[in-house]
Amino acid sequence: MKTVVESLRVAGPPAYAVNGFDVERIRADFPILRQKVRGKPLVFLDSAATSQKPQVVIEAISNYYETQNANIHRGVYYLSELATNAYEGARQKIKEFINANSIKEIVFVRGATEGINLVASSYGRKNIKAGDEIVISAMEHHSNIVPWQMLCEETGAKLRVIPINDDGELILEEYQKLLNKKTKLVAIVHISNSLGTINPIKRIVDIAHDSKVPVLVDGAQAMPHTKVDVKKLDCDFFVFSSHKIFGPTGVGVLYAKEALLEKMPPYQGGGDMIKSVTFEKTLYNDLPYRFEAGTPNIAGAIGLGKALDYVAGIGYENIAAHEKELLRHATEALSTIKSLRIIGTAKEKAAVISFVIDGIHPHDVGTILDRDGIAIRTGHHCTQPVMARFKVPATSRASLAFYNTKTEVDLLVKGLHHVIKLMS
Ligand SMILES: Cc1ncc(COP(=O)(O)O)c(C=O)c1O
Repeated sequence: MKTVVESLRVAGPPAYAVNGFDVERIRADFPILRQKVRGKPLVFLDSAATSQKPQVVIEAISNYYETQNANIHRGVYYLSELATNAYEGARQKIKEFINANSIKEIVFVRGATEGINLVASSYGRKNIKAGDEIVISAMEHHSNIVPWQMLCEETGAKLRVIPINDDGELILEEYQKLLNKKTKLVAIVHISNSLGTINPIKRIVDIAHDSKVPVLVDGAQAMPHTKVDVKKLDCDFFVFSSHKIFGPTGVGVLYAKEALLEKMPPYQGGGDMIKSVTFEKTLYNDLPYRFEAGTPNIAGAIGLGKALDYVAGIGYENIAAHEKELLRHATEALSTIKSLRIIGTAKEKAAVISFVIDGIHPHDVGTILDRDGIAIRTGHHCTQPVMARFKVPATSRASLAFYNTKTEVDLLVKGLHHVIKLMS
């Protein structure tokens, strides 16, 4: 079956631009969304945890295993050449998608978490010493806190934290005050997974660069919602996970400026990251392979490439317009529930809504909604410092993607009324 985006390609003009955004046609590309769960149509509102996959991505992965499976970079035979071309083709697509200068700057990793760990371990150990400072923010995911804490423990460096206001926005004046001669890196999230806040990332990068401090951007939640251009952002490192942008799990990307990568020691040792090995000395491979030890997630990278094609086919303008309308509708509808409080009310916000309901634990909210086929996330969302900042143990979180509908939002609101009735 051809997907909407594929049929658009053969049809020629981009029909979304011509006909407007048709969410029902988009939904038809996602087989999982046709499912019933617990006898009810699935209402999937947990895309910030992981997004659903369109048929083209699923087919790209199975097609790889059915017709191309072989190890890459090593074989001289036909299948290995096919697999290598498909894998490297995906790298090329990613380079173009985020507008990197060269494929040397695109390192395949397991996901955003591994990308950050790679930078902390390689760049961090080489460049950060006792007394130095690393600046992060109060809204980071644990994966952009713990690797830096580990580095600080090892080196004697210090973690400094940009505070956030009651709306869940970074306090930029405080950020500026934190930067000083000891600051060696800023590591900051682009879009918060628990608050939905869209940070003014270009400004944050520029401010750091004014003090000659490099910046790592955690783009895990940015990629599914907004166009990222690493050249325009001028960030030094950018990480993201395939599974958040409609691709498979277990693969992601570290973008790093070539001049930085060139000077970084390898992260892991093993096959493929070398040019030659003797017991006396190993010569490391060229970029980006120096940072890709061992057999990678070949099918995953190919699936990610397909997911990026799919997103490009829909267009970020269409995605942004639809999600903005969903967010407006959801915020208005949820605000009619008196006992509900939204956590995260930034002016610039992605379609992620965290909330608490007086007297009802988020886990109960999630469990009761699940009986109606509604999937939301409950807990701390790997951002315990955010929970501490807002003095809540946990929140319920509905996170939306371009395949969600206003009807689904209405079902959530109806479900929440049901929860409140049951629990009161
Ligand atoms: C903002 C943010 N950063 C990093 C991560 C970690 O991503 P992964 O678990 O795919 O490595 C997540 C995952 O939820 C996230 O939301």
